[in-house]
Amino acid sequence: MTDLVPDTATPTPVRRAVIVGAGPSGFYAADQLLKEGFEVDVLDALPTPFGLVRAGVAPDHPKIKAVTRVYEKTAKKDGFRFFGGVRLGQDVTRAELLERYDVVLYALGTSDDNRLNIAGEDRRGVHGATQFVGWYNGHPDAADHEYDLSVKRAVVIGNGNVAIDVARMLVLHPDELQPTDTADHAIEVLAESQVEEVVLLGRRGPAQAAFTNPELRELADLQRAGVEIDPTDLDLDEHSAKWLEEEADITARKNVEILRGYAEAGPKAASHRVILRFLRSPVEILGDGEHGQVTGVRVAINEIQRGEDGSLRAVPTGAEETIECGLVLRSIGYRGRPVDDVPFDDRRGLIRNAGGRVCAESGDAHRGEYVVGWIKRGPSGVIGTNKKDAADTVARIVEDRDAGALNAPVVTDAEEIAAFYAERAPESVTWAGWEAIDAHEKSSGEPHGRPRVKLVRVADLVERSRVVSGS
Ligand SMILES: Cc1cc2nc3c(=O)[nH]c(=O)nc-3n(C[C@H](O)[C@H](O)[C@H](O)COP(=O)(O)OP(=O)(O)OC[C@H]3O[C@@H](n4cnc5c(N)ncnc54)[C@H](O)[C@@H]3O)c2cc1C
Ligand SMILES: NC(=O)c1ccc[n+]([C@@H]2O[C@H](COP(=O)([O-])OP(=O)(O)OC[C@H]3O[C@@H](n4cnc5c(N)ncnc54)[C@H](OP(=O)(O)O)[C@@H]3O)[C@@H](O)[C@H]2O)c1
Repeated sequence: MTDLVPDTATPTPVRRAVIVGAGPSGFYAADQLLKEGFEVDVLDALPTPFGLVRAGVAPDHPKIKAVTRVYEKTAKKDGFRFFGGVRLGQDVTRAELLERYDVVLYALGTSDDNRLNIAGEDRRGVHGATQFVGWYNGHPDAADHEYDLSVKRAVVIGNGNVAIDVARMLVLHPDELQPTDTADHAIEVLAESQVEEVVLLGRRGPAQAAFTNPELRELADLQRAGVEIDPTDLDLDEHSAKWLEEEADITARKNVEILRGYAEAGPKAASHRVILRFLRSPVEILGDGEHGQVTGVRVAINEIQRGEDGSLRAVPTGAEETIECGLVLRSIGYRGRPVDDVPFDDRRGLIRNAGGRVCAESGDAHRGEYVVGWIKRGPSGVIGTNKKDAADTVARIVEDRDAGALNAPVVTDAEEIAAFYAERAPESVTWAGWEAIDAHEKSSGEPHGRPRVKLVRVADLVERSRVVSGS
């Protein structure tokens, strides 16, 4: 007969993590922390989850947005709670989160766009792609923005996938936009758009473009727009040719192939055009009066030179030209917004960290504070990149837990914490509230063959979240 051994072991204490930001990086980290036995609260400034999957990914790419199904599964797991509409820095402070959690994980993304810092940048008709993207995707902060699309030519500055997204959105046929979840206000304005030509401007050459192959290839499929490239732009300089042959990855090689294909095919008969121009850096935005409407961009013509560190750089040749246009969209990357008193590396536009552990300028780690996603490593990488990134940060959290080096909260009761958010942000939305919003948006879209019709005002989102959940 086996003696029964009384269970004297102390129960494992509940470890509680708060993740600030419900984008991809926040959700991947949440899932991994739940698997490690943490209870996880996810906060977001917006009443809605999913970060740039809802407010960044182009509306004509619905398949990419299907990744939210993975996040929905995470949200259904025991130990997960969502508090939408709770803003770190406004509704709650960093110190208050540290009073309540063993782990505070920042997953804030990078919400500001880089500026060119050239004369004329504040003219009427010059906008950041960030704001334009937010506007057509129904981000509540951008719902009241206005874009004058009564102009014939737009210039998009930058050669990344965001630049391609905004260029494509500007030339899509209304029939291509109609079946998408583009915000209604944007569908209306885009339907009346007079923009016929979008010039995509790269400061370096075709070999250095940051596009990915499917995005570049997709331009061939636009219903009413053709792609134009000056074939001489594809005569690579010696540095680029050598680099492409000896060092470049497959993406860069394929990009050049695709671009050559466009150049060889020549302009297609189409009412609209996307024109790719390379080796051109904007030096001044021209326009009427000091702050009047943009009328053009003065650009320096560059050549590629190899820098001492081996990088291929754009160097002005001294020649310039002017591209006339009535709209300029700057799409040259993002930077994080400093929040509360979380250590911030102003030069890089990120939360200061060492491998995901938030740290002071001295390099000393802040106990219990971590970072993940774009605000940790910078604004690059596709949605899936954030999964590995989250795994790296969660590994650091687990190491610290095992070493007894997490934060020591003073408030540990889950209900007390929920009451704290309800008091600080009375309009906050739970997961059940989001599900009510989601169901409403989908059912509004269904009769029109659209995936959803987005609610774009915080007040409307909050009101809808109360309808079914009653929360
Ligand atoms: C325009 C655009 C289109 C893209 N399209 C694609 C694509 O088609 N395919 C692809 O694979 N990748 C795409 N990407 C990349 C992808 O979106 C990113 O890799 C990913 O979203 C980064 O995730 P994140 O969680 O770090 O940040 P985000 O997705 O930005 O999430 C951050 C979250 O933090 C919240 N937040 C910010 N500040 C606060 C605060 N103070 N308090 C509370 N919450 C806060 C925000 O509301 C947001 O929900 C695109 C990126 C952009 C910019
Ligand atoms: N469909 C998709 O999968 C998709 C869609 C959108 C975004 N994303 C991803 O999201 C990330 C961010 O995309 P992004 O387009 O914002 O950034 P990005 O890929 O980093 O591209 C930024 C572009 O801006 C240029 N640039 C930077 N500073 C400039 C300046 N001062 N003047 C002129 N040009 C300048 C860069 O040129 P240099 O190279 O010369 O620096 C580069 O061409 C990327 O990883 C992207 O792949 C993916």
